Amino acid sequence: MSTTEKLLYLLENSTSHISGEQIANKLGLSRNAVWKAINALRNEGYIIDAVTNKGYTLSDKNTRFSKAGIEKYLRYPLVLQIYETLNSTNDIAKQVAINGGLHGTVIIAREQTNGKGRLGRQFFSPKGGLYMSVILRPNISLSATTLITVAAAVAVSRAVDKICGVNTGIKWVNDIFLDGKKICGILTSGSIDIESNRLDYAVLGIGVNIYSHPNGFPDEIKNIAGSIYKGECNFDTQNKLIAEILNEFFDIYENLSSALFLSEYRERSIIIGKEVICVSGDGEFPVKVKDIDDNAHLIVQKNDGETLTLTAGEVKIKI
Ligand code: BTN
Repeated sequence: MSTTEKLLYLLENSTSHISGEQIANKLGLSRNAVWKAINALRNEGYIIDAVTNKGYTLSDKNTRFSKAGIEKYLRYPLVLQIYETLNSTNDIAKQVAINGGLHGTVIIAREQTNGKGRLGRQFFSPKGGLYMSVILRPNISLSATTLITVAAAVAVSRAVDKICGVNTGIKWVNDIFLDGKKICGILTSGSIDIESNRLDYAVLGIGVNIYSHPNGFPDEIKNIAGSIYKGECNFDTQNKLIAEILNEFFDIYENLSSALFLSEYRERSIIIGKEVICVSGDGEFPVKVKDIDDNAHLIVQKNDGETLTLTAGEVKIKI
C-alpha cells in the first residue's frame, strides 16, 4: 500500500478526527510527509476536513468510493485494484488474467474512456459510475458460462435493492432496470483452454450508473439509460453497494451449478408475460415472452403462434 492509501485507510476507519501527530505515529511518517499525503488525497478529489486541536476527518460530502472503504464491507478475500480512469476495466482484467492474475482479482475504475458494451457497442462510462471487472477461474463447462452473467444480474439487482432501498428488475439477459431505465449493463468474456475444452478464465464486467453525470446521458441513450441516484450519493453508500454486489455475486457463484438462483432471476424479470421486440439476425419482430428456461434461454411466442427459444441476442422493451 502506498502512503496515501494507508492514510485513506486510516481516515476511513477512524470513528472521529485523527490528529497529524497520531497519523505520523501510526504510519511512521514525519509531520511534513503527513501534510503532503493529506494534500495528495485532496488533489485526488477527497474532501478532508481539518479542525484545529482535533485533526483530520473524511468529510461526509465525499462522493468517491475507495479500496479501504469497500474492503470494510467485503465478505470474501478479493484482491481489489482501484483506478481513477482506465480505458476499459475488462481490457485491463484480461491482461491481468493472461499474466496469471488470480481468481477473485477485481479491477475497478471511476471512469472509462473506452468502456465496452455488448454486441460491439460502447458503454458510456463517465465519473459517477462504477466500472468493475472480476477475474474468475471457474471449473465449469463452456455451456454453463451464461450462468455467470445471470448470477451477476441477480447479484446486482439484489445489492442495489438492499443498499439503495429501490426495486430493480432484470431485462434478459443482463440489463438491470430501475423505473423503466437501464442502470447497469454486464459483459462477460472468457478464454478457453483448448486441451480441456473448459474455461481458462472469465472476466465479468459490470457497469453501474450510480449517480447522474452533470451533462446527462448522450442523446443516443438518454431515453433508455438512467442512474440509481439523481444527485450525488455519499461515498459510504457507494462502498457498501460495490461490496454488496461482490458479496452477493460470490454467494451465488459458490453454488453456480445448482442454478437455484434461476428462479430468482425469473422473479426479477421485467419482461416475462410482456410483449417485447426481438432483435435478431432476421430483423426486428414483436414477440410475447413466455418464460426463461433453466439454461437462461428466453422462450418467446411470435404473433403467428410459433414458439422460439432465444439463446443469445437482445430484446427491446416496447415504449
Ligand atoms: C452492456 O450493457 O452492453 C454491457 C456493458 C458492460 C460495461 C462494463 S463496465 C465494466 C466493464 N468494462 C468494460 O469495458 N465493460 C464492462
